[in-house]
Amino acid sequence: MSIKILGTGSALPVRRVMNEEIVRMVDTSDEWIRERTGIGGRHVSVGETAASLAADACSRALEDAGKTAEEVELLLVATCSPDEVAPCTACRVQDRIGAGNAVAFDLNAACAGFLFALHTAWAYVEAGIYRNALIAGSEVLSKVVDWEDRGTCILFGDGAGAAYVEKCVEGGVLGFVQHADGSRGSVLSCGSRRLDNPWFGQRDFQKYLQMDGREVFAFAVRQVPLNVEAALEKAGLGVADVDLFVLHQANRRIIEGIAKRLGADMDRFPVNLDRVGNTSSAAIPLLLDELNRQGRLRRGMKLVLSGFGAGLTCGACVLEW
Ligand code: ACO
Repeated sequence: MSIKILGTGSALPVRRVMNEEIVRMVDTSDEWIRERTGIGGRHVSVGETAASLAADACSRALEDAGKTAEEVELLLVATCSPDEVAPCTACRVQDRIGAGNAVAFDLNAACAGFLFALHTAWAYVEAGIYRNALIAGSEVLSKVVDWEDRGTCILFGDGAGAAYVEKCVEGGVLGFVQHADGSRGSVLSCGSRRLDNPWFGQRDFQKYLQMDGREVFAFAVRQVPLNVEAALEKAGLGVADVDLFVLHQANRRIIEGIAKRLGADMDRFPVNLDRVGNTSSAAIPLLLDELNRQGRLRRGMKLVLSGFGAGLTCGACVLEW
């Protein structure tokens, strides 16, 4: 038994911010950003929230799958930039789309969040607890990005992606690996919730996302190929059997480095970060939805999804579309 993706959806804020606009804010250039990252533009929230974007993406995924919100049994939202401390984003989404019969909760594994949510859904279905799940990755990172820091503000974008999955007897998820390394948490972190009570007093706190870009880069290029190979081994497949590698969209050079290590041509690695930047947990489902709507996914195709991010967390999933 496994789970199969039957529908996908995505949502982006209406406001598009091209590199040229960022060049007017910090000391950088369009050439530098494109050359070092592959990013040309991103969408930035002008009122859209993690919940509203996730709800739109979820509604589209349900429509694509031909399902109604009432049918959903499990609703998971992966996010590291929720709108509120409580209630969780998934409960807000449940209310917005009318998925009143679903159990709803959030999951935070940063850029690997959607993959971890997919694996969680798989485990619930495998255990016989639920028969289906609606999974979203949704981020409004623009509220935790320091728009005066050229090292990070060029990278991130806002958006959401979602997938409706259902129990299946053939195909679907074939192999999965996931890892977390909390000892390297400070490589990429955001401590925007400060301790502020009458006994502690007010201290300085890290308000914005901070990152050791080179460390993250090296981690991704080294770890992702290992995860992909391990997940493929579990699925009884090899790199040559894979039709498309749908990777976390952080940096084009990272994707090229991973492709090289796997010995695979870049034409099997679709990229959309040139238009949307790094949308963290939304990146994989956003790209998946784009491929689905372009008609590039055919039933029976073998896909590898793989992500990495703050935690440090990472994982890979092999599935038959
Ligand atoms: N414009 C111009 N110059 C810049 C910019 C910029 N936007 N940013 C940094 N520089 C400068 C640096 O100050 C440095 O100057 P120096 O040599 O005078 O000190 C020089 O460019 C080189 O800096 P590096 O950090 O070595 O540049 P690098 O080639 O590594 O590129 C980047 C930086 C793009 C951040 C890269 O390291 C990267 O993409 N890392 C991965 C980041 C990532 O994927 N993060 C997200 C993870 S997912 C998640 O969980 C959210």
